[in-house]
Amino acid sequence: MATERTLALVKPDAVAKNAAGEILAMIQKAGLKVRALKMLRLSQAQARGFYAVHRERPFYDSLVAFMTEGPIIAAVLEGEGAVARYRDLMGATNPANAGPGTIRKLFAQNIERNAVHGSDAVETARTEIAYVFSELEIEP
Ligand code: RTP
Ligand code: MG
Repeated sequence: MATERTLALVKPDAVAKNAAGEILAMIQKAGLKVRALKMLRLSQAQARGFYAVHRERPFYDSLVAFMTEGPIIAAVLEGEGAVARYRDLMGATNPANAGPGTIRKLFAQNIERNAVHGSDAVETARTEIAYVFSELEIEP
């Protein structure tokens, strides 16, 4: 399996309940390396752009409102098969379907307020990382 990078976001719900540290600890215990890390607050336009793939979905406006309600923490993760490994660690989008011990099982409230984001493919990760981080912010 190849070394990959993926974009992780701790969403506003999880930052607001002080869960970011525990979530980052779970990521590090899973063996994924943190190559970049920062807190930021998305503007409406930035959140709309980040989730543009979902612009036709009924939950889009609500998702944008949620993602801009407070600060998020963004990280670039690296490791063998990092995209799928981090998706596995996150658990299903709807926490009702998330497996035991996953981040969403532990910290998500519902299908929207679900604590974390992770890129869904290597190519998506490349685009999302460049959207959130400048080259200078990422450990090579
Ligand atoms: P993410 O992109 O945030 O990592 O989540 P995901 O791949 O597991 O789920 P995706 O289908 O890409 O949906 C993006 C985010 O939109 C919100 N959502 N709300 N109300 C709903 O039915 C609904 N469905 C999705 C969630 O915050 C989801 O993570
Ligand atoms: Mg997604």
